[in-house]
Amino acid sequence: MTTSLPMPTLHARPTAAARGTAAASSSCSPDLAADPWTVDRRGPAYGPGASQADRAPASAPVQGPIPEEYRELDDATLHARITAAREELGERVVVLGHFYQRDEIVAHADFLGDSFQLARAALSREEAEYIVFCGVHFMAETADVLSRDDQAVILPNLAAGCSMADMADVAGVEDCWAQLTEVLGDLDAPDETGKVPVMPITYMNCSAALKAFVGRHGGIVCTSSNAAVVLERAFEKAHRVLFFPDQHLGRNTARAMGIGLERMPLWSPGRPYGGNGNTVASLEDSQVILWHGFCSVHKRFTVDQISAARAQHPDVRVIVHPECPMEVVDAADESGSTDHIRRAVESAPPGSTFAIGTEITMVGRLAAEHPEHTIFCLDPVVCPCSTMYRIHPAYLAWVLESLVRGEVVNRITVPEAEAAEARLALDRMLEAVPR
Ligand code: 13P
Ligand code: SF4
Repeated sequence: MTTSLPMPTLHARPTAAARGTAAASSSCSPDLAADPWTVDRRGPAYGPGASQADRAPASAPVQGPIPEEYRELDDATLHARITAAREELGERVVVLGHFYQRDEIVAHADFLGDSFQLARAALSREEAEYIVFCGVHFMAETADVLSRDDQAVILPNLAAGCSMADMADVAGVEDCWAQLTEVLGDLDAPDETGKVPVMPITYMNCSAALKAFVGRHGGIVCTSSNAAVVLERAFEKAHRVLFFPDQHLGRNTARAMGIGLERMPLWSPGRPYGGNGNTVASLEDSQVILWHGFCSVHKRFTVDQISAARAQHPDVRVIVHPECPMEVVDAADESGSTDHIRRAVESAPPGSTFAIGTEITMVGRLAAEHPEHTIFCLDPVVCPCSTMYRIHPAYLAWVLESLVRGEVVNRITVPEAEAAEARLALDRMLEAVPR
């Protein structure tokens, strides 16, 4: 731990179990009703939900079977056993929950937040021996990198990865870096203006190995809440940035800074110059080279859905996450991180109407917590993030009761050499406080 931070905001724990939203009409998979361990048996796959059609890499972590006893417990018993285990562990454990987690999980979270806030929260509980991360794999890796060596970070279901994070791997990014070096010279060497040709910027949603790549090349990690601040800082030191893995966050952020689309070539890994008609001249002229990654949750939102919401509710306020495609962000009234969306809803006058373009579990919870507003998800189909959804209370009960018995299961450990480089890029991220 190298950065000292104030305590993150502790948000109210929702009590209502919200499933879907007022506008939800059907679900994207009948398997959503299945228990996650039936999906875990199928090997590397993202499971039902928005990423169900994405191909999980063979290297994606697999969750082994949890003891049968947990698979048979009903919801009320799981809730009681998780509560009892938490009480027994006391301050030795901190439970972090991302906004996209199920209500049954959020009910046990000490901190509920977006990925930036949770990275800070991981630093804030010095007394905790165990950090149980109810989120996805890259978030748990980040917590391990930022926490002390004697703190164990635990991911309740190892199969909770992220399909977007899996769209960039070290081999692909190193190949891109080598090709850009051929075109632009030594990418780490500042020119006479003091700027390097390219700085790598990675979205938080990537492996620790890629954060380490960014750290050793002088780059910064960003989240959806501080991407604009990070890009501004990058351009003080670099002529261009290579932004991965999310093309949409990169494009939306850069465009809001006034950068033209013609200066944002798209890079598809494994192709000469990243394909997409890229040439030496277009790469030389570029300002933001966008990796061809995307989020399958946010790719579902469309301009037609926004038009339909406006037709039905003329006074609607449309807010979308910046992982949505550019035309969706353009058609919305505003865009921002999950915490931006939460704050917008909390600060609106009673009687407001919101159409929200982000993960449906979070939208459903906001709707349940704010009966004074009309809140619905832009997408009428119930289709949660496949991997966030893999964190089921049975896994949380299993990891916590294992800790009570003195057994650490599902620990996420980043090798120290990799962690040291990743920490450089994460420390730069934590200094880039969102506006
Ligand atoms: P936030 O940084 O807004 O929490 O988003 C994380 C994420 O994975 C969104 O898809
Ligand atoms: Fe990954 Fe999208 Fe799920 Fe976020 S919502 S964890 S980016 S797949």
